[in-house]
Amino acid sequence: MKTELITTMVSLVILVHFTTTTISSTTTLPSWIISFLPISLAMAAAAVTLPFAITTLHARTSRNNNGAAAAAIPGPRGWPLVGSLPAVWGPLMHRRLAALADAHGARRLMSLTLGATPVVISSHPETAREILSGAAFVDRPPKAAARELMFSRAIGFAPGAEGAGDYWRRLRRVAGAGMLSPRRLAALGPLRRRVADAMVARVAAAGQIGEVVAMRGLLQRASLESMAGSVLGLEGGAVSEELGEMVREGYELVGAFNLGDHYHTTMWGPLMDLWGVGPACRGLAARVRGYFGKIIEERSLAGNCHERDDLLSYMLGLPEDEKLEDSDVIAVLWEMIFRGVDVVAILLEWTMARITLHPDIQFKAHKEIDAVVGSHRITDADIPNLHFLQCIVKETLRMHPPGPLLSWARLAVHDARVGKHIVPAGTTAMVNMWAISHDKTIWGDPWVFRPERFREQDVNILGSDLRLAPFGSGRRVCSGRMMGLSTVQLWLGRLLQEYEWLPAKPIKLAESLRLSMEMKNPLVCRAVRRGEAA
Ligand code: HEM
Repeated sequence: MKTELITTMVSLVILVHFTTTTISSTTTLPSWIISFLPISLAMAAAAVTLPFAITTLHARTSRNNNGAAAAAIPGPRGWPLVGSLPAVWGPLMHRRLAALADAHGARRLMSLTLGATPVVISSHPETAREILSGAAFVDRPPKAAARELMFSRAIGFAPGAEGAGDYWRRLRRVAGAGMLSPRRLAALGPLRRRVADAMVARVAAAGQIGEVVAMRGLLQRASLESMAGSVLGLEGGAVSEELGEMVREGYELVGAFNLGDHYHTTMWGPLMDLWGVGPACRGLAARVRGYFGKIIEERSLAGNCHERDDLLSYMLGLPEDEKLEDSDVIAVLWEMIFRGVDVVAILLEWTMARITLHPDIQFKAHKEIDAVVGSHRITDADIPNLHFLQCIVKETLRMHPPGPLLSWARLAVHDARVGKHIVPAGTTAMVNMWAISHDKTIWGDPWVFRPERFREQDVNILGSDLRLAPFGSGRRVCSGRMMGLSTVQLWLGRLLQEYEWLPAKPIKLAESLRLSMEMKNPLVCRAVRRGEAA
């Protein structure tokens, strides 16, 4: 504790001394301004630094309920003002955090500060379970871009703590009943099949004119059509370019680095949005409101909600005493589309990259489809019998989880015990699922893509087994996990049933973590209709 306070204070003195001597020697400012500078700079720096220093100290040496000091949480000390932000931030943050946890012997729990934000990170299934299922970690830490884009009104960012969580629970229930429940998911099966047909037709069209297939564009288009159909009941030509553009723009903005997010515990946070993410989000939010508002108005005027089968119609058809405000309806519609589109396309792109890279695995998958499905087009009903295909998706989720740090972290609403440590209220808690799913003490040959491992041991990936929980776990587990998984499995099956996939250029598996972890170099393939010579 002493060392950290001293480091902080020394850096304050150096910072103030350096700044004021530089200014006084190079400017002609009046002397009274120069004499005030050290004080105001010291106050500014203290306002930024001290909360961070104090919260770090608190995080490291908190006391338990009996007053006994809990074990200090290991982790890097970090720099004054910025903490460990420069050391870990970037497109490979999950890997850097894993390396740091190893270096500090802190896989179970590591403490560090990012900017002024105290953070703990678990890279171990046991502590991951305590965090994700613990009653304390039910909120999300503030993120300006997401708040501006209305997510603070929607499911993902609404507070989930006892008492404050009624709103969150209500929205989750509505989205479940209107779109994500098993019954609704089954009802939306024909839509997913139509979208798959359209996707296969696009691949065929590219083949006829001798073009290679740019997988990212193909999969994003399919994903957008599927979500627009499920959420808004729009299909084919009715799915406008504008919707796709808004999703892409939102993805860029929420995934962009915003320094202010790491200083939200200080008064300087809002001033640190150096790249103007906030204003850009406000502009996009206005467009989103206009776009969805118009659709809601048209649907209300048409008055045919009870004949339709989409989330919007379900929400508009709710009985008067259960009706949601228009702003909440818009937030949920937008959130579903925004969340669903990219992550499904990203997971499928990784899966197709693996299939293309490993012809032996592709051969086995073809054989299974031929044996189990025969000549009819794959439907959802075939998926439970396509065990190897399911193993391929699981292995892709293990090696390339779209949310390696589980996308959006959790925030402790009160002090909580994790392992032998006490994590104070206000701490951001993260789970490094990528580190867990690459841990050689858990997974044999973790760097080898081997779907068969899931034939040897059955691992439930929906949140009950923390060795592989790519959809999170506990109360805030991904509410769209069944929809995401069903879509990916069905479309993978269709793409494999119709085609043999070959690389159009060397496949690189480099990662880039923004909002989700995507392939750094988009995948480009050649598709050869099965049965035809390559
Ligand atoms: C393959 C696809 C997907 C993956 C890998 C994925 C992953 C995740 C993860 C890791 C979380 C955080 C969970 C936690 O904190 O424990 C999450 C939350 C969430 N996901 Fe997904 N997701 C996928 C598809 C979808 C789809 C298709 C939808 C909706 C259409 C969706 C909607 C949500 C929502 C609403 C939350 C916030 C839940 C809450 O805070 O209560 N996800 N997802």
